[in-house]
Amino acid sequence: MPRTYLVTGAASGIGQATAALLRARGHTVIGADLASGDIRADLSTAEGRAELAARARELSGGRLDGVVACAGVAQPDPLTVKVNHFGAVATLDGLRPLLAAGTDPRALVIGSIDSVHPTDPAIVDAALADDEERAVAASRAAVDRGEGQLVYSSSKAAVSRWVRRHAVTPRWAGAGIPLNAVAPGVILTPMTRPLLDDPDMLKLVEQSVPMPLHGHARPEQITPLIAWLTSPDNTHVTGQVVFADGGADAVLRGDGTW
Ligand code: NAI
Repeated sequence: MPRTYLVTGAASGIGQATAALLRARGHTVIGADLASGDIRADLSTAEGRAELAARARELSGGRLDGVVACAGVAQPDPLTVKVNHFGAVATLDGLRPLLAAGTDPRALVIGSIDSVHPTDPAIVDAALADDEERAVAASRAAVDRGEGQLVYSSSKAAVSRWVRRHAVTPRWAGAGIPLNAVAPGVILTPMTRPLLDDPDMLKLVEQSVPMPLHGHARPEQITPLIAWLTSPDNTHVTGQVVFADGGADAVLRGDGTW
């Protein structure tokens, strides 16, 4: 049965590959991104988030069956928490009424293996308290003390915890909407290409994200999981952060976490 999905970050990388797979399976995909696609919206801003919700309502006729929040950035900069946490939460929350009107609705956000790396509790706490100003200030402070890499890991930890907190509430589980995250390891996209092309950075990436199963992945190797989690076949998986990481999480966190 053809479904209607909205995918953010649909112009590149994982979002683009997700949209392509869903379309190839006969579904309708409304693609959103910064500067191209069906909806052009900057998810780091309140105006862009409002534009996404309004245009999605127009283009979908008020009903969505699936939402996949892929848009993200990985810069050591406060922008990263604005897009990766607040933009993603605004996407999920803002489109939830359209999902509630859909058929077998499902929602998903892209987390990251980086969420298990060290984070900055000040950024994570502010994000979970829905205080964007404080999260941005904490991110700026991390950058100023030379710990800008914590902004990305914190943004992904926060959005993963947001999923676990909210998935089981009446607004999501109670409304019959599974809400999950997929946490990739290293995926070969324009986001990671500059890192992987630099031999010194590549060594660091391999140390911090060890992937004993099949190594670095192409986006097409994780999109079937995204498609399944947002399909009607998924009736009972919710509140999960599913690591699609070639074993990196199991290496890094061992057998005490599952
Ligand atoms: P990408 O850079 O290829 O694609 C990201 C897309 O998000 C781009 O099309 C970009 O224009 C869009 N975007 C960025 N800022 C935006 C904004 N303010 N408003 C609207 N759209 C915006 O990156 P990739 O690798 O496909 O990343 C997708 C998601 O996967 C991101 O959330 C990223 O953090 C996450 N991820 C990626 C991994 C990787 O190894 N590539 C690993 C773990 C997580």
